[in-house]
Amino acid sequence: MNKIFFKDLEKYYDKEIEISGFVENIRNIKWVQFLVLRDSTDRVQVTIEKSEEKNKEMVELVNTLTVESTVKVTGTLKKNENVRLRGMEFIPTKIEVTSESDPELPINIHDKDAQLLDQRLDYRWLDLRNEYNFNIFKIQSYLVKVMREFMYSKDFTEIHTPKLIGAASESGSEVFEVKYFDRKAYLAQSPQFYKQMAIASGFDRVFEVAPVFRAENSNTSRHTTEFTGFDLEFAYIDSYEDVMDFEEELLTYALDKVNVKYGDLIKELYNKELIVPKNKFPRVKLADLYDILEEKYDYKVDEEEKNDLTTEGERLAYRYAMEEFNSEFIFVTDFPKDKRAFYHMRKNDVPQGYDLIYRGVEITTGAQREHRYDVLKKQALEKGLDKDIEFYLEFFKYGCPPHGGFGLGVDRLTMLILDISIKEAMMLFRGPNRLNP
Ligand code: 4AD
Ligand code: MG
Repeated sequence: MNKIFFKDLEKYYDKEIEISGFVENIRNIKWVQFLVLRDSTDRVQVTIEKSEEKNKEMVELVNTLTVESTVKVTGTLKKNENVRLRGMEFIPTKIEVTSESDPELPINIHDKDAQLLDQRLDYRWLDLRNEYNFNIFKIQSYLVKVMREFMYSKDFTEIHTPKLIGAASESGSEVFEVKYFDRKAYLAQSPQFYKQMAIASGFDRVFEVAPVFRAENSNTSRHTTEFTGFDLEFAYIDSYEDVMDFEEELLTYALDKVNVKYGDLIKELYNKELIVPKNKFPRVKLADLYDILEEKYDYKVDEEEKNDLTTEGERLAYRYAMEEFNSEFIFVTDFPKDKRAFYHMRKNDVPQGYDLIYRGVEITTGAQREHRYDVLKKQALEKGLDKDIEFYLEFFKYGCPPHGGFGLGVDRLTMLILDISIKEAMMLFRGPNRLNP
C-alpha cells in the first residue's frame, strides 16, 4: 500500500522515490527519451538523457519498451517549468518493466470514437484506460458513496438479500431461470420481497445496493439484463408522499455532493451541466399528464396506451417539467392498478405509487406497500399469483408496520447525469447479445 499516487507527487520534490504506472506515451528523440506514465490519479513525465553513460541500460530498455506496459521507476522528481505536463519531470536511475504490453493494441484507447462502441466493449479493460470512460466510474463510485452516506445519516440499515430465489418477485416474464441442483431457481428481479421482510422483522429502515436481473430481450439505450439497484424501504409512513419526499431529499443531497466534487469534470469531459435541484419536484397524475401533453405538444396516444407511460410520454413529461417548473425531475402518480405490482397499496382502487422521471427517463418506481395481509392476498390473487408468493404473504401475518420504498437504477442515473448510453454507464454491460467479457 505504499504506492505513491501521481496526484500526490508535489510532496516528493528532490527526494529519491519509486513510482509505478502504465506507459502512456514514449517519445524517443535524438538526445533524450520521454515517457509519460499514468496511474489512476494523474500523469507524469520521465526524462532520460541519452548521452549520459549511466543511463545506457535504461536507454536500451526504453528502445524496446511498448506503450501500455507497466513499469516501476526509481529516481528523483524535479521541478521543471519547461515541462508542459505539470511543470515537473522524473529523472530515473532505474526502470523495471513489471508487465509488458503487446505492441498491437486491438482498439484505439486515446480516441474512443475511432471504433464502434461494441468493439470497445469487447476490450473493456483497455477501453476504460481512456479518461472519458474511466471517470464515469469514479463519478459513479462517488455518487453511490454519498447516497449511502445519506442513508446511514437517516438511520437506515444496509442489508444483503439473496439473488437466487425460489419464485419470481415482480412479473413472471422478466425472470431468468437457473438450474438449481434438481430444481429451478430464479435470479432476483428486485430485492422487493426481502426488503419488506426486513420491515416485518422490525428494522424500520433498510436499503440495499445490489445486482438486479431482468430477462428483457430488448436492445435500447436504457435497458440492460443486469443492473445495480439502489433499493430502500422504510416503516411508519402515512402515504407514498413520504416516499417521494424522501427520494427528493436523497437525490438533492447526492447531486449537490457530486456537483461539488465532479461538476467541472462532468462539464469538461461529458459536456453536461450537473444541475442541483432547488425546488420540490413537480408531481402530476398520469391521466392529467396525458391531457397536458396533448394540449401543449399535440401528443396523442391511444386510450389503451394511456394506462402506462410511453417512452415519448416520458420525454415530453421532462419537457413539460422544464418549461413549467424548471425541474429536470417529475413524479408521475396515479397509474392504473393493472399496470402496477400487486403489492402497491391502493386507495379508492388507485395504486399509491409513482414513477420518477429524470431528464426524460424513468429512474425509479416507488410506492406505499400494502401491509395488510388480507388485502395483500386479495390483490395477489387478482393478478393470478398464488403458490409462488405464499411465503411472501406470510411476512405480513404476524404484524408488519405500514411502509413504503422504491428502487432506483444506479446505471440509469449515471447515464442520465453524464448524458451517455447505458452501455457506457456500466463497467461491464449485460444485454441480450453480450455476456463477455
Ligand atoms: O421500476 P422497477 O422495475 O421497480 C421495482 O423493481 C420495484 N420492485 C420497485 C422497487 O422498490 N424496487 O425498477 C426500479 C428501477 C427503474 O426505475 C429503473 O431505474 C431501473 O430500476 N431499471 C432498469 N435499469 C436498467 N435496465 C433495466 N432493464 C431496468 N429495469 C429497471
Ligand atoms: Mg418501473
